[in-house]
Amino acid sequence: GIYEYINVTKTGSNGSVGLIQLNRPKALNALCNGLVNEVGQALDILEADSSVGAIVITGSEKAFAAGADIKEMANKTYSETYSENFTQNWARVSTVRKPVLAAVNGFALGGGCELAMMCDIIYAGETAKFGQPEILLGVLPGVGGTQRLTRAIGKSKAMEIVLTGNQVPAQEAEKMGLVSKIFPVDQLVNETVKIAEKIASNSQLANAAAKECVNVAFETTLTEGLHFEKRMFHGCFATKDQKEGMAAFIEKRKANFTNE
Ligand code: HXC
Repeated sequence: GIYEYINVTKTGSNGSVGLIQLNRPKALNALCNGLVNEVGQALDILEADSSVGAIVITGSEKAFAAGADIKEMANKTYSETYSENFTQNWARVSTVRKPVLAAVNGFALGGGCELAMMCDIIYAGETAKFGQPEILLGVLPGVGGTQRLTRAIGKSKAMEIVLTGNQVPAQEAEKMGLVSKIFPVDQLVNETVKIAEKIASNSQLANAAAKECVNVAFETTLTEGLHFEKRMFHGCFATKDQKEGMAAFIEKRKANFTNE
């Protein structure tokens, strides 16, 4: 294939789900620059493919990703990190407009946990472990860990995870609300793909608009957010998919969305 560090397939009915599997087993999917660039390329392709309605990112049963590549970054200087805007390429994951689901088995540490948090929904296998161990390396979570984690689970839990570097088992992560659901390890990817398939059968326009609205909740005041939501809701009435979705309900049949 064209990729060195990942596998990309289309799965689900009619290939409606794009599946990105991080595949750098010898380094527990440590997120080297090349891997992150490949994820960005794959996302560009899946985003542009109108037959894809949702995307799943997963790793192996041992590791979703054990973090940024420590060996690659150990000798960087401040001026290098600053001038190359180190980690800028990670942002692609958070700008995807289609729904992105993380299926996390094994370690999701440091940048691995942060990558999962850039996704819209996190599902975990029973033995998954989350953590932000950067503090143990003399640094701090640099791609959203201090921000997304705090918004997801609140200050005291986020401080505990960021300041101790301790690993959090899947069950605890679910209780905190970081993880939506837990599945048996060997069923995680299938179950996540099934949910992605269901999401992909919605109107892609409605999915993208709903995702945009939920994300606005993190960026603005309640009044502004409600205003934005109401306008986006009004906007839905300009789509054929709204007419189709509501007609299908009234006619007691399945909707056939065309993303128009
Ligand atoms: C580079 C890594 C790596 C990493 C593991 N490896 N994690 N290489 N960067 N983040 C490599 C190991 O060096 C080793 O290579 C191989 O993968 C297997 O790892 P082991 O440690 O032997 O496995 P195990 O004993 O099972 O322990 C698993 C582990 C441990 C607990 C996950 O590997 C670990 O603590 N990894 C680092 C976790 C971490 O600190 N992550 C945060 C990184 S900083 P060899 O060649 O020896 O076999 C970060 C910053 C993000 O993410 C923000 C800026 C981008």
